[in-house]
Amino acid sequence: MRSEEVFEKLKQWVEDNRSHTMLGEPAQYIPALANQDRDQLGICIMDIDGDTYMAGECDVKFTLQSISKIISFVALCHFKGLDFVLDKVDVEPTGESFNSIIPFEIHRPGKPFNPLINAGAITVASMLPGDTVDEKYERFLLFVEGMIGHQLELDQEVYESEWKTAHRNRALAYYLKESNLLDLDVEEALDIYIRLCAICINLKDLAKIGLVIAHDGYDPIEERQIFSHDVARIAKVLMVTCGMYNSSGKFAAHVGIPAKSGVSGGILASVPPKWHSPEKAFRKGCGIAVFSPAIDVNGNSAAGTMLLRQISEEWDFSIF
Ligand code: DON
Repeated sequence: MRSEEVFEKLKQWVEDNRSHTMLGEPAQYIPALANQDRDQLGICIMDIDGDTYMAGECDVKFTLQSISKIISFVALCHFKGLDFVLDKVDVEPTGESFNSIIPFEIHRPGKPFNPLINAGAITVASMLPGDTVDEKYERFLLFVEGMIGHQLELDQEVYESEWKTAHRNRALAYYLKESNLLDLDVEEALDIYIRLCAICINLKDLAKIGLVIAHDGYDPIEERQIFSHDVARIAKVLMVTCGMYNSSGKFAAHVGIPAKSGVSGGILASVPPKWHSPEKAFRKGCGIAVFSPAIDVNGNSAAGTMLLRQISEEWDFSIF
């Protein structure tokens, strides 16, 4: 498909889906996110040559929030090995909200159901390589920056806003500490977790990360393996089964792409190569990043989800 056609379609589909922002609202429980402009909807798709296709509000910067969870999982597996990580967190969906305490309480043996819920992500963040919060944060940043090719920054306002209101996450961290699942003290574990959530990203960088995951940890632009195929495989399984929380089943059914959402309104999606229907776009796979801050009851961008659904249906992206 010609690039002009791809741009045209994306532009059209963004406008088709913009009204779905009415189906959600910006996350209210993190004060710094509550006042985001709810009508925004932007997308970036990156192909294997590094060419990007953008439409809508695509110059935005937003915080990673829960999207950081899949990246920290990948980073921890890369540094410490899959066995080490899967010993600490399981790979099962919960059927509860992302910040629920219930699954952790009832799951035996006592470890978080998966690394994409808060309990699992706090555990993973605390175990990143490094002895201190600063060291762990630096190692994580270097890992991500290695993938996108430049430095990232923390959104201090979002960090502080979340730090002050993280009562439930603090409670979760105490549970985790009691179960010997943290590599840090409670306040430190919370600190590293909230820092990762407050890292600022743009659509192009997020699409690049999606592209690398889609290609099994291989960066097709720089032509180098960043993390192993095995780690990428488990990451994609987690994205499909848990990445959109309690809508993961519906998302798999109607969109069918490994994806991870965040409450700031971002979605990271990885479209693996697909060799049939050669007349359709992005047959060699691509990374997709979407941003639209109005989120639904499950914590997923409302319009972002619908836009991905339309794109996937039109270009037959589903892996199923
Ligand atoms: O811990 C929290 O509640 C947020 N920092 C992240 C939650 C989140 O993004 C859930 N995703 N949809």
